[in-house]
Amino acid sequence: LIAALAAKPLAGRRLLITAGPTFEAIDPVRGITNLSSGKMGFAIARAAREAGAEVTLVAGPVHLDTPRGVRRIDVRSARQMHDAVLPQAAAHDVFVATAAVADWRPASLSAQKIKKDGKKIAPIFELSENPDILAAVAALPGGPYCVGFAAESEKLEQHAREKLRRKKLPLIVGNLGPATFGRDDNALLLVDAQTTQALPADGSAVDKLTLARELVAEIARRVAQWQR
Ligand code: CTP
Ligand code: CA
Repeated sequence: LIAALAAKPLAGRRLLITAGPTFEAIDPVRGITNLSSGKMGFAIARAAREAGAEVTLVAGPVHLDTPRGVRRIDVRSARQMHDAVLPQAAAHDVFVATAAVADWRPASLSAQKIKKDGKKIAPIFELSENPDILAAVAALPGGPYCVGFAAESEKLEQHAREKLRRKKLPLIVGNLGPATFGRDDNALLLVDAQTTQALPADGSAVDKLTLARELVAEIARRVAQWQR
């Protein structure tokens, strides 16, 4: 029994996770998106389920199979992701934001495909800022333990710590390595208010499922000790 409990450190916990990119429509056939594959988020959803959690996965447009036993909600845009996450966030114990949410969307959506129509000048698109889903969940009174992800092209630890403070998070996870989007292996940097820790500890790259299992074990430890 003790071994079984140790292997399921998230038993009885509900975990909500966002994954993948979002797609912000310009017209019926075009949009703005990014190169997030969703693999890391789906791997974490699977690892959390294996660890005993009841898992809700809110996924942007990706072509990945739903991990066994995971409840999945598909969305397309950042606003749809926000509207899927916010009403149920407070009913979860842990929120893991792996999604690469588009920061901006076209300010207006054209109902028809935008045509060249022999125009001499290329169109200019005005953008509006999308809601920050993670910051909104982290601000909920009595809300879940929030884990952010930071994808940076430089100064990872500094930017990660700045986001930790700005979004008021107990933990943020940085992607080590230059181009982790879409790759099968990865390494992470865990940043909290006091400490910085590499995962794996030696900073080597491992496959995303192995990494996800180690991260979930680390999150479970921290959730168990968490005091708001
Ligand atoms: N995030 C979110 N909603 C947004 C933007 C980001 O939930 N509209 C979450 C991401 O899922 C990630 C964390 O916030 O967990 C950090 O995302 P990131 O893009 O690195 O940070 P930003 O605050 O958007 O800052 P910037 O892109 O300028 O670095
Ligand atoms: Ca961003």
